[in-house]
Amino acid sequence: MHSMKTILITGGAGFIGSHVVRLFVNKYPAYTIVNLDKLTYAGNLENLKDIEQLPNYIFEKADIVDAEAMRELFKKYHFDGVIHLAAESHVDRSILNPLEFIMTNVVGTVNLLNAAKEAWAENTDGKLFYHVSTDEVYGSLGETGFFTETTAYDPRSPYSASKASSDHFVRAYENTYGLPVVISNCSNNYGSYQFPEKLIPLFINNIKNNKPLPVYGKGDYTRDWLFVEDHAAAIDVIYHEGKHGETYNIGGFNEWQNIDLIHLLCKIMDRKLSRVEGTSAQLITYVKDRPGHDKRYAIDATKLNTELGWKPSLQFEEGLEKTVDWYLENEEWLQHVTSGEYLNYYKKQYDTV
Ligand code: NAD
Ligand code: TYD
Repeated sequence: MHSMKTILITGGAGFIGSHVVRLFVNKYPAYTIVNLDKLTYAGNLENLKDIEQLPNYIFEKADIVDAEAMRELFKKYHFDGVIHLAAESHVDRSILNPLEFIMTNVVGTVNLLNAAKEAWAENTDGKLFYHVSTDEVYGSLGETGFFTETTAYDPRSPYSASKASSDHFVRAYENTYGLPVVISNCSNNYGSYQFPEKLIPLFINNIKNNKPLPVYGKGDYTRDWLFVEDHAAAIDVIYHEGKHGETYNIGGFNEWQNIDLIHLLCKIMDRKLSRVEGTSAQLITYVKDRPGHDKRYAIDATKLNTELGWKPSLQFEEGLEKTVDWYLENEEWLQHVTSGEYLNYYKKQYDTV
């Protein structure tokens, strides 16, 4: 039986955050889960329709860049823990507007750290600030090797530079003020409720609508893909059993070159849409590369497996199939999120496609 706790989850209306909120609200009825989200273009309360009526769930609309609002929230709820996911998260958007990333990802994180430090000044027993980060802070790999928890930081995009900076602040608050913290760095996630500007949902949506599939460069970049519900499960384990002050890498040892993944996706979509095999792949269009595009990410998640026993639950092909089914079955969700601001972004980013 878990004791009563009040946990702040930031960014809970986003892709990964909504899965974490759902898991915690359902699994821990004795906890009160407060979801703080600004509801930017990426935040969508429709992601949480199935749990929003539950008595242990509360939503607070707020901006983490507003320091006073963060202090007030900590006074109002007396949080025992924070799981911090709120962020600007898309590399391409960070190239268009780096300052927004510095404000949310760096200043916003420091505001939350300050609010936690003040609220927990008397006693840090049972308290924890869990910062959710990315493998992109480690930079880019060549053909071989993996990122481990001791790999030196080498961020190369405005997004990864802002996340790296926030990680440094979290560690600095532990070292300087004794704040109890834990950090995890995860590889690329895929699954339901991902905003369709990231590779997999974007391409599912475009294939469905017979629109071009804009592959950056030669498509020979490599990413390491993890099913989002496995990430949420890892966050649960690390929150409850992780050693304070430690970092855990999260990944499924599942590397794919973009073009191979895209061909697999096209094949699944042909089958689901009853198209002749090879039809969807004809939509592949090579476009101008992303500036400073990181070549390869690959996570070594041995520490998390050996110390805390976590491992992914799904093979990639199975997860991708489930993901495709979800987007095809949730047409209305897709329509709602692909209207409005998203269309302006799409035009700017893919002007020539
Ligand atoms: P997302 O963009 O889908 O969601 C981010 C959420 O944060 C949205 O709900 C948005 O409204 C909210 N938000 C943004 N700015 C805010 C602000 N100023 N105040 C309050 N809320 C704000 O992102 P995601 O893919 O779910 O990523 C969540 C976290 O996980 C991020 O910290 C990201 O760096 C990290 N991460 C993501 C991945 C991935 O593959 N998506 C991989 C590893 C780590
Ligand atoms: P993305 O989902 O943006 O994640 P990240 O850049 O954080 O890894 O992109 C995954 C990979 O797919 C990355 O190598 C860039 C590539 N990509 C394309 O080729 N075309 C696209 O339209 C997008 C969005 C991404």
